[in-house]
Amino acid sequence: MTEKIKTSKETAARWERTYKTNPVTSLPWEEGSPSSYLIELIESGVEKPGPVLDICTGSGNNAIYLAQRGYSCHAVDISPTAISIAREKAAKAGTVCDFKVGDVLNLDFPNDMFGLVFDRGCFHNFSPEQRSAFISEIYRVLKLGGLYQLNSFSKKGHDWGGPPYGFSPADIRKLFRSSFEILWIKEISIGGGASGQFFLSALMKKATRD
Ligand SMILES: C[S@@+](CC[C@H](N)C(=O)[O-])C[C@H]1O[C@@H](n2cnc3c(N)ncnc32)[C@H](O)[C@@H]1O
Repeated sequence: MTEKIKTSKETAARWERTYKTNPVTSLPWEEGSPSSYLIELIESGVEKPGPVLDICTGSGNNAIYLAQRGYSCHAVDISPTAISIAREKAAKAGTVCDFKVGDVLNLDFPNDMFGLVFDRGCFHNFSPEQRSAFISEIYRVLKLGGLYQLNSFSKKGHDWGGPPYGFSPADIRKLFRSSFEILWIKEISIGGGASGQFFLSALMKKATRD
């Protein structure tokens, strides 16, 4: 049997150090509130309440929102400190979510469990060699027809290599098209265009594999 690719101990330790040594509010990705991309998706009514997974949840803003909206919420992050911050926040908000320390490349969930996997700032951390393991795990835990919402850096204004990596819509199509039906891809300017950087947001649906 081939060994599953896992995130290296060094990378996991680096993320943990980041959360241990910095106040969470100082982290550049921390919004302190749910992502507008997630709110838009949920308010569109596209996914009915059921089991959902927030990958690389960080301090849990998006997972908590999903729990508040009536979804059966599950969330993973590789940093134990991030997970304890998320658990505390959820308790303060009076919400219930299953927050787990775990590696996205080796998820501790059964096949076909989720109707939605939400990703803000997760996929773009993985190297080219790790991407097919990442896509296989997301594919495995989603039910057929389940949705994957990807929010990553775009290549526009982010072309220094990585991690984190930037992607073009064509890159995303090439990487995901054999397993997912791509419903849409958008490039959205960060900070109203002043930064010259873009985020790439995509919605795709688990399909039967080519
Ligand atoms: C850019 S932050 C995004 C956090 C959160 N999604 C948000 O929008 O605020 C990336 C997160 O990915 C987590 N992470 C990195 N590699 C991971 C892995 N292999 N498995 C699970 N989480 C991981 C980090 O600990 C960090 O919390």
